[in-house]
Amino acid sequence: MTAIKGLEGIVATTSSISSIVDGVLTYRGYNIDDLAEHASFEEVAYLLWFGRLPNAEELQSLQQDLSDFAAIPDKLIEQMKLYPQDANTMAALRSAVSALGLYDEAADDMSPEANEKKAIKLQAQLPTIIAANARIRQGKEPIAPKAGVSIAENFLYMLRGEQPDETSIKALDQALVLHADHELNASTFASRVTVATLSDIYSGVTSAIGALKGPLHGGANEAVMKMLSEIGTIDNAESYIQEKLNNREKIMGFGHRVYKNGDPRAKHLQKMSRELGEMKGDTSLYDISVLIENIVTGQKGLKPNVDFYSASVYTQLGIEHELFTPIFAMSRVSGWTAHILEQYDGNRIIRPRAEYTGLTDQKYIPIDLR
Ligand code: ACO
Repeated sequence: MTAIKGLEGIVATTSSISSIVDGVLTYRGYNIDDLAEHASFEEVAYLLWFGRLPNAEELQSLQQDLSDFAAIPDKLIEQMKLYPQDANTMAALRSAVSALGLYDEAADDMSPEANEKKAIKLQAQLPTIIAANARIRQGKEPIAPKAGVSIAENFLYMLRGEQPDETSIKALDQALVLHADHELNASTFASRVTVATLSDIYSGVTSAIGALKGPLHGGANEAVMKMLSEIGTIDNAESYIQEKLNNREKIMGFGHRVYKNGDPRAKHLQKMSRELGEMKGDTSLYDISVLIENIVTGQKGLKPNVDFYSASVYTQLGIEHELFTPIFAMSRVSGWTAHILEQYDGNRIIRPRAEYTGLTDQKYIPIDLR
């Protein structure tokens, strides 16, 4: 047995949800470029769960369900108020989603209908949890979700306590479409491993949130913003990046396990970042980002991934950097739950082997002789 570190190149399952072939990302056969231009996030979530785009009536019905399920239990809000105020926002989300399962009487109902309903509930409730936690951290009262509006609009409304502008809603909606699914990424794999033991969907999503939190995965977008803040002005960018490269440090938001010629999602976020900067009359964050890209791609051949330009997009939307990875989660929960439903349907426990590199032929020595 020879280990393949990081399972690189291992095909661990079949899936009909999303694919990456020759650098092209598709959801259920639809190119991500097409969906990013034309589809709403709700349409994409429907597509991921049910395998086809909804008609008008089906979309309306899903939007109604998402609205109906968006509120979270008062007891969960009370619990969240007890979290340390400076708790990591992904740790808070992980804890809250785990607790959410406690309040769902159908948490362990493994019928396909119950699991489908829980997938929609989780999608509806994650934005509410994230916005509530953000407000609690600021010492403010959470705001109840609004009925009849999109997830992007509702999230910004619950976060800010006022009606968001159309540009922000559209930008966030497009970002959610771009983050919705991504084949067998680390967090999706974690969710599938968990539910392949026939554990419940809340456990699967909790595992996924834990995996997404890390800076080599979803946590990179927050780390990118930290880097942009440390750089501050464009004059500092070159020396800052050069020093990191000289020290063989990783530049967050660059590189990818699967894409070696560029992440197809990055160009949409780059365009969004530029347009938001131009609209606000300040493209400094975008300009610094482009300069970093030129240096890193020029010297290392590494291209930006989805996390790189999403950092400047969210910042220009006035969103605090601690919420970047939770926003990733609030989109990716559509993909996680689609994969969880697919895993349940034709499940086999996921249990690989390890190449043993430890000691052998050890003889037990009584404790008083050691
Ligand atoms: N900056 C500098 N060098 C890098 C970077 C980077 N961002 N990414 C990879 N490299 C280098 C590595 O140091 C390594 O060089 P070496 O062969 O000289 O040692 C080589 O490129 C291969 O990199 P690995 O880390 O082995 O590639 P792997 O496929 O294991 O990792 C990963 C992919 C984790 C995304 C990596 O590129 C990385 O750490 N990037 C920064 C974090 C990041 O942006 N993560 C978000 C990914 S997208 C997502 O999850 C949503």
